[in-house]
Amino acid sequence: MIEMSDFIASGFPVRRKRWFVDNAFLCDRLNSEHPRRIVRQGYVAPGRRAVSQPKSILLIIGGGVAAYKALLLIRLLKGHGVGVRAVLTTGGAQFVTPLSVGALSGEKVFTDLFDLTDEAEMGHIQLSRAADLVVVVPATADLMAKMAGGHADDLATTLLLATDKDVLIAPAMNVRMWEHAATQANLATLIARGVGVVGPDEGDMACGEYGPGRMAEPEVIFAAIMARLDGGARDLVGKRIIVTSGPTHEPIDPVRYIANRSSGKQGNAIAAALAARGAEVVLVSGPVRLTPPAGVTVQAVESAREMLAATMDALPADAVVCAAAVADYRVAEVADQKLKKADGSNGRTLTLVENPDILKIVSKLPFGDRPALVVGFAAETHDVIAYASAKRVRKRCDWIVANDVSQGVFGSDDNRVTVIDDAGAEDWPSMGKDAVADRLAERIAKALTG
Ligand SMILES: Cc1cc2nc3c(=O)[nH]c(=O)nc-3n(C[C@H](O)[C@H](O)[C@H](O)COP(=O)(O)O)c2cc1C
Repeated sequence: MIEMSDFIASGFPVRRKRWFVDNAFLCDRLNSEHPRRIVRQGYVAPGRRAVSQPKSILLIIGGGVAAYKALLLIRLLKGHGVGVRAVLTTGGAQFVTPLSVGALSGEKVFTDLFDLTDEAEMGHIQLSRAADLVVVVPATADLMAKMAGGHADDLATTLLLATDKDVLIAPAMNVRMWEHAATQANLATLIARGVGVVGPDEGDMACGEYGPGRMAEPEVIFAAIMARLDGGARDLVGKRIIVTSGPTHEPIDPVRYIANRSSGKQGNAIAAALAARGAEVVLVSGPVRLTPPAGVTVQAVESAREMLAATMDALPADAVVCAAAVADYRVAEVADQKLKKADGSNGRTLTLVENPDILKIVSKLPFGDRPALVVGFAAETHDVIAYASAKRVRKRCDWIVANDVSQGVFGSDDNRVTVIDDAGAEDWPSMGKDAVADRLAERIAKALTG
């Protein structure tokens, strides 16, 4: 059993009520939650959850408030037969104790580079290479900076420099620290070197601020680890893919616009899934309230015409996934000034003109300019398959992902889609948008790599 006293012993500042509540919640989850339940909830892509051979990770726990979530992660990994050997940084040990980490991992916890006994038992170079994957949770701003700079002034950073294994980091920090140009430059350096990044999420932070920087949930990190341990997930390295996502806003006047209910969740998830397989991803996104996936280049746009321009600018690409809900029409003449209500008038007529059709334009590019694979989305409220099949033929795209949006798909976390291509229609069961994205990315990888 994990007790609150473990956290009190770990020096966690339980005087703050909110942190106390978080910790009580953590104890509850650690004690009651069976990892398999989490798998059924769809955090892990179908067919990906069981590692075929016994695998192990080297888990580096950095000095951030989110370090307590590393304990949940250890529990999840152990529950799925993944060995966990943990290293606590000096900062990490301020937030969780070696005792808690060791009790959950069932292994010795390493903290010191210059420990004679540790070095005699297992040298630090061997420690850096004995696991299948190195995972940093939480990856603090400091650890990211040291990794980018190639520092090796303690055990964690020395291992990170000496390892010959893949490295996955889960950043967690205050929103200003995350958005700081130094952190973003370090992130770009790490991504360019092939370091995998999971999260961070946007949300309330322990420091009381709101924004991107909150560490991804342990279940999401767990899924990313399992995908890497399973292997074969880096099959899009060297491929460039453009994903359009979210709604468009078509201006009426300086304060009003025509929009739709697209949240951008499915498009964002697809961009993240493609990037996780190693693709270079450009996400052309309409206005959304989402944290862009790490490791993806984002072009933020508002209108359909801007989305078309950004998509064309991002070409050439091996594939384009048009997941955005682009407005079919825009207002013919956008007013320079706010339209005023005229007394006694009986309403107002807006003249709409058709927007450019991004999917059709990209699909009909001449051979050589056209991406090898063009995927469209068809959100329909009735006769879904018939409309989607006709759309595929009309627009000359390769695949259409059709979904019935009559029942609250917009903004929800689940989706049920049918993928239509030359071979016919493939019905996928209802699943999380992350799982849809994962399966689609796998299908795209097969199509692009034969
Ligand atoms: C209460 C508290 C919470 C902190 N949380 C974070 C955090 O979430 N992310 C971060 O990058 N730094 C955080 N810091 C600062 C780091 O602990 C500090 O930069 C430390 O040197 C990082 O150690 P590391 O390199 O071992 O990770 C926090 C500091 C304190 C005192």
